[in-house]
Amino acid sequence: MIRADRFIAEQMNISRSDAAAAVRSGRVTVNGRRLSPSDKIDEGKDAVMFDGRQVRYRRNVYIMLNKPVGVICAARDRLTETVADLIPPELRRKGLFPAGRLDKDTTGFVFITDDGAMAHDMLSPKKHVEKEYVVTLRDPVTDRERYDGVISAGMEIDGGEICRPAVISFTDDPSVVHLVLCEGKYHQVKRMMHALGNEVTALRRIRIGGLVLDESLAEGQCRELSGDEVRKICTIS
Ligand code: URA
Repeated sequence: MIRADRFIAEQMNISRSDAAAAVRSGRVTVNGRRLSPSDKIDEGKDAVMFDGRQVRYRRNVYIMLNKPVGVICAARDRLTETVADLIPPELRRKGLFPAGRLDKDTTGFVFITDDGAMAHDMLSPKKHVEKEYVVTLRDPVTDRERYDGVISAGMEIDGGEICRPAVISFTDDPSVVHLVLCEGKYHQVKRMMHALGNEVTALRRIRIGGLVLDESLAEGQCRELSGDEVRKICTIS
């Protein structure tokens, strides 16, 4: 059970005082009845309406964002646009943060949630959650066996760090490869390609765990994930 003003404030992402005012003015009904801000709502059972629209209770929010170039993976920043700035008001919540980072010039799938435990689980190195990238390279790959051998063996990158074995696959375009990693070292894809004597010119993440980026989302757009989709994130496909 939760106070009506708190329920509305949290679920509608408005201040507690605005929520209390909305409840007092009768904009909120529970099971068809008006109530006062201190009345309790059973978040599992009660039918809550705000301005005639149902407010579905969600303990946590899980969002897939298609990140554009130029936006940083942070909850807030004074100078640069962040992934949090791209979330529409109805999905905004206190405590939302990107679970895992992409570089400013990388595009694609960013997972954003206010569920700290789930994000921690997903990011845990022990979980080996896969991330798939489409990598555009400066130089076309003419020696596939070398790339495959080095990457699948677990390669060393600058500074002596050893990467876990990863999977590279090739496309019809020799300048575009897919790379599947199960860890997230700083600038890892760029550093791997650099160690192989190449350079990344564009990078896009298209999958986390078993969940593929929804290509109907234009860059800069996001949407809430279903329970099934959230579960797919932590599954190895
Ligand atoms: N590897 C990189 O080099 N950059 C990213 O943004 C993600 C993985």
